[in-house]
Amino acid sequence: MTQAIIAHNVFKKFGKPDGSFWKHILKQNSNGQRPVVVAVDSVSFEVQEGEIFGVLGPNGSGKSTLIRLIATLLLPDKGEIKVFGYDVVQQPMEVQRLINRVSVEASFFKKLSPMENLLYGARLYGMNGRESRIRIEEILIRLGLKKRSIFKPMEEMSRGMQQKVAIARALLSRPRLLLMDEPTTGLDPRSKREVQSVIKELNQGSGTTILLTTHDMLEADNLCDRIAIIDSGKIVALDNPQGLKKIISSNGYEPTLEDVFLELTGKTLVKDEIYPLI
Ligand SMILES: Nc1ncnc2c1ncn2[C@@H]1O[C@H](COP(=O)(O)OP(=O)(O)OP(=O)(O)O)[C@@H](O)[C@H]1O
Ligand SMILES: [Mg+2]
Repeated sequence: MTQAIIAHNVFKKFGKPDGSFWKHILKQNSNGQRPVVVAVDSVSFEVQEGEIFGVLGPNGSGKSTLIRLIATLLLPDKGEIKVFGYDVVQQPMEVQRLINRVSVEASFFKKLSPMENLLYGARLYGMNGRESRIRIEEILIRLGLKKRSIFKPMEEMSRGMQQKVAIARALLSRPRLLLMDEPTTGLDPRSKREVQSVIKELNQGSGTTILLTTHDMLEADNLCDRIAIIDSGKIVALDNPQGLKKIISSNGYEPTLEDVFLELTGKTLVKDEIYPLI
């Protein structure tokens, strides 16, 4: 079995701002250093090729940071991440060729249409114009975009439509590993289902490995083969949805994934976060 991701003891902290204005407002911690936030705290896990792997956790628990580390956009302070055997720090170019990422803050040329934006993206991936034009239209229609929307400026589109264009752009390069940071946040129920079925189809049809984060527990339950629940940067549970529910199930009581989430998260005191309230 091929491992798509191996993460071993990954640790990432962020320093809080150190500008002169903040210096007067922020208290230094007891050893005189700048306050830090530990975003990812000694995290280890493996994702098998062909899995849909979910990462759930409260706001600020480190999900997006973890995705950015896997995507080579951030460097870990400690630990190791391998993507299909390539080290994200030593071999970032090899990793980048195998992955793509969809995030909520996807950026576009707003005056240009989805077709123009995606053709630009396709050229970056070295695809030829004719081939990509057909593929772009195919993907956008599959994602539920109307034909006329494909050619109007992005700035005239709703957030949900823009999110679909972001997903389409990530699919263009046919990644072996797709990192999806809240792919369905802000989508209406129909769009959400369309995106979810594209995720399933992509996984089952093309064998694409998918790591996704979501705040929708039902979505995670339906889509994911296995789920890691993280809290304050630490993995607090990792199993398939059934296995996670078993953790808190007792006689006659069948918990939902939301019950598991509520039970396992939000109880850790964030010791490192000493950012004073102002
Ligand atoms: N660039 C950064 N600089 C400083 N702190 C950061 C930075 N990025 C993230 N953090 C901090 O790291 C912690 C984890 O943030 P992260 O964005 O990974 O959480 P998340 O689980 O994705 O949250 P959400 O569910 O709200 O998207 C938070 O305390 C956040 O403030
Ligand atoms: Mg996030």
